[in-house]
Amino acid sequence: MKFFVDTANLEQIKEAQDLGVLDGVTTNPSLMAKEGIKGEKNILQHYVDICNIVDGDVSAEVISTDYEGMIAEGQKLAALHPQIVVKVPAIKEGIKAIKFLTSKGIRTNCTLVFSVGQALLAAKAGATYVSPFIGRLDDTSTDGIQLIAEIVDMFNYYEYGTQVLAASIRHTMHIVQCVQAGADVATCPLKAILGLLNHPLTDSGLKKFLEDYHSVNG
Ligand code: G3P
Repeated sequence: MKFFVDTANLEQIKEAQDLGVLDGVTTNPSLMAKEGIKGEKNILQHYVDICNIVDGDVSAEVISTDYEGMIAEGQKLAALHPQIVVKVPAIKEGIKAIKFLTSKGIRTNCTLVFSVGQALLAAKAGATYVSPFIGRLDDTSTDGIQLIAEIVDMFNYYEYGTQVLAASIRHTMHIVQCVQAGADVATCPLKAILGLLNHPLTDSGLKKFLEDYHSVNG
């Protein structure tokens, strides 16, 4: 399973990249706003800055909700850097835009996916990724991980090339559940990725190894 970090914070992206296991980055307008990135010029430059830190795919989201606007924005974003993947919402105009962008060789990430049906249409339009939001489904007492498993099964059965990118991951256990459900990618807060390392037996075991070493070596 690939790991993306879900943030527009350059320090966190650098820290994740330094870990050596990062495969990409996802952003969205809320994450960009959280970092105080505003104005088209600054936003576009920020995407380039992220691409220059990481080796993998960087999702950059369109703001338009009409077809013409989405394809214009999508082409502009894609021209910024070869690592850019254009993020498009799972709405009617978005599916049309994904079809067009795919025909131009531009990779896409269909975002705000909350159902198998939305994922099916995105895959048929040629999306590179679909992003089901598992945390937001959990928030509505609906099993987000179950949706990941259903989409994975559908893509495997029909042999769609679209990858399942589990998004809206809120904690470390979500990551483990994504592995079990067969997600291709999990985009996570850095804290949730680092949480995979947490184990008291590792900490106590390391402490004992070092104590024993120093007891004879000084
Ligand atoms: O990847 C989508 C993510 O940024 C949304 O997360 O926690 O706002 O549902 P959240």
